[in-house]
Amino acid sequence: MSGQSIRVENLVKHFGKGDSLVEVIDGASFEVKKGELVALIAPSGAGKTTLLMMIGCVEEPTSGTIWLGDEKVYENQWLTNETRKIRREKIGFIFQAHYLIPFLNVLENVTLIPQTNGVSKQASEKEAMELLDYFDIADKARAMSSQLSGGQNQRVAIARALANKPEIILADEPTAALDRKRSVSVVEMLKKIAIDQDVAVIMVTHDDAMLPLCDRILNIQDKKVVDVPKETKIL
Ligand SMILES: Nc1ncnc2c1ncn2[C@@H]1O[C@H](COP(=O)(O)OP(=O)(O)OP(=O)(O)O)[C@@H](O)[C@H]1O
Ligand SMILES: [Mg+2]
Repeated sequence: MSGQSIRVENLVKHFGKGDSLVEVIDGASFEVKKGELVALIAPSGAGKTTLLMMIGCVEEPTSGTIWLGDEKVYENQWLTNETRKIRREKIGFIFQAHYLIPFLNVLENVTLIPQTNGVSKQASEKEAMELLDYFDIADKARAMSSQLSGGQNQRVAIARALANKPEIILADEPTAALDRKRSVSVVEMLKKIAIDQDVAVIMVTHDDAMLPLCDRILNIQDKKVVDVPKETKIL
């Protein structure tokens, strides 16, 4: 099954007003399909994180339209009072730093959001163990984040992002803290997830070497989002 998972039309984001007005995104339109791993590239300050945060219902746009799956969630205003619920149910976030909660062990980190969504402890733990197994870190389930390597922590963070069975994964420089080999392994994992779970993945990256592993590359140019060829070099 495939179809559009993220659809953005004429999206605008301004910060501030008057002399301090910053126009970050101005009329961006694009789609990402289910099963697609899309890289988002652009220079620092171009608005990549801002764009992910709007799609993830964290940052309110200035105007435009956003659909997530079949649901129109934003049209010049949020169309729901429950953006947090949409975020919890539809979106998995992965950040540059893994942001695992330091006083919870690996298993507790992965089960936190499903349990917040009302899944039982037993069911969420079973699911989490399957995910940890998939990422080859099941033996670390009872370890604390501080006892894991950077790559292991990032795999736990990906498992956590998947634990609520999101339709969309938004990853903001997930490989920035990793060496080349581990970066490739994380991106290959995201690609496998996109295909296996029919999830749309947008991954911000500054690393040229990751681009051939992605299905498509989006760039922010002139405050708009454009498709660019895979051979593109990040400046
Ligand atoms: N809360 C805010 N208030 C005012 N300006 C903001 C705010 N958040 C972001 N900006 C501005 O919006 C622009 C885009 O920022 P953003 O963080 O989206 O860039 P980015 O492409 O993710 O950069 P990087 O590659 O460095 O992470 C920047 O000029 C930034 O200063
Ligand atoms: Mg950023």
